[in-house]
Amino acid sequence: MANVIVIGAQWGDEGKGKITDLLSKSADVVVRYQGGVNAGHTVVVDGQTLKLHLIPSGILYPQTECIIGSGTVIDPELLIAELDQLAALEISSQNLLISETAHITMPYHRLIDQAAEERRGEHKIGTTGRGIGPTYADKSERTGIRVLDLMDPEGLSKKLRWTVGYKNVILEKLYNLPPLDPEEVIDQYLVYAERLRPHVVDCSLKIYDAIQRRRNILFEGAQGTLLDLDHGTYPYVTSSNPVAGGACVGAGVGPTMIDRVIGVAKAYTTRVGEGPFPTELGDVIGESLCDRGAEFGTTTGRRRRCGWFDAVIGRYAVRINGLDCLAITKLDVLDQLPEIKVCVAYEMDGKHYQDFPSNARHFARCRPVYKTLPGWQQPTDHCRSLKDLPPQALEYLKFLAELMEVPIAIVSLGASRDQTIIVEDPIHGPKRALLYANSAPLGSRV
Ligand code: GDP
Ligand code: IMO
Ligand code: MG
Repeated sequence: MANVIVIGAQWGDEGKGKITDLLSKSADVVVRYQGGVNAGHTVVVDGQTLKLHLIPSGILYPQTECIIGSGTVIDPELLIAELDQLAALEISSQNLLISETAHITMPYHRLIDQAAEERRGEHKIGTTGRGIGPTYADKSERTGIRVLDLMDPEGLSKKLRWTVGYKNVILEKLYNLPPLDPEEVIDQYLVYAERLRPHVVDCSLKIYDAIQRRRNILFEGAQGTLLDLDHGTYPYVTSSNPVAGGACVGAGVGPTMIDRVIGVAKAYTTRVGEGPFPTELGDVIGESLCDRGAEFGTTTGRRRRCGWFDAVIGRYAVRINGLDCLAITKLDVLDQLPEIKVCVAYEMDGKHYQDFPSNARHFARCRPVYKTLPGWQQPTDHCRSLKDLPPQALEYLKFLAELMEVPIAIVSLGASRDQTIIVEDPIHGPKRALLYANSAPLGSRV
């Protein structure tokens, strides 16, 4: 039995969907623990592409229970659209469970998110416009609507009459927008409630019960470490905690129940939305990464900003999440390049820094210090073991593992399940903490 957290080690879109789907084969339960429909996780199976926003990427395994945890925020309209998408593909959602304490995204959250972004002007964050920030803000302010409220028609009507009235003041007075009709919102959400009711459970109790029955649980993160509200590039972050620690809070499990943490990182870096990005490439190489990697947002369709791999943020992700190992994705996207750069440190005011600075103004001034490695200039998407890889590609992976002092357990070379090299069992292989304790050469395992 092993309980495993899968997190994004960069700015999101690392390929968590593919890796979660892959590892779900041996999971009994998959739990999404934070975020909402801002996430877009792509799973490609048998040539069929499935884009998931809220439903855990384990849904393709009929025996696996999939839980949308307490720490998430749920837009019922889009969740129902996702359920319809699954039904159209004849994928069962019978095993989908929804936490009764998750918060609900309301129409005023979406409107306020979009209006606030416009008002921010040059200070805009580049949000997905899906109402995520305002939903979490209401949760913290204690004016949120929870799944529990949705399940109680009388209580919901009473609560929404007050809340919509309150939000209308903000919509009208602050943003010059027309008010919402509380009765319309109530009617609409009562319909959603009945569609979702059969899936609603006490999520923490379900998970505890599964742990006691020695089931394998996989905790699926959305977004990435650098988008974490507390540990990311604030204010250019999302409003939840994608880091591994967030899994305990968001799913309602104690830290002693977690066996392993797996980080997913691309072989290069991407970012959607605003905010500093030291290794960003504004040249033809950046364009070619975007084109070859099909780097367009799953949720908003926005072009993702592309750049070289940044080992400073990689090391930071190892530290903040306590990573046991890494899954490196999209190695194939680098196939045609004659040389490849890796950021090994930052330079600011003539000094070199190895550690990610928590001061945002300093981070914005950091310039990358690169080490250049030779490319391999041949396809790798057919490789199924390390010995199939060109020597330069193997050297590249070794270099990354050594820089970040963490073993690489999985290498992904294409979107489909079989385009993967399992270097070592990411769930049952040795823990990094043990390697560290034994002073074994870290990162030498690729
Ligand atoms: P997530 O948000 O972390 O789940 O990542 P996304 O699904 O938003 O973006 C990753 C994209 O890369 C998706 O379109 C995947 O199908 C695709 N992908 C995943 N792994 C690989 C890989 O190794 N190579 C290539 N070329 N594409 C991949
Ligand atoms: P997955 O799970 C990449 C980014 C947005 C914006 C910032 C805040 O697919 O990796 P929000 O709407 O959350 O308030 O936007 O966070 N962002 C993502 N970037 N992948 C995601 O999810 C993201 N979810 C949010 O672009 O910069
Ligand atoms: Mg994504």
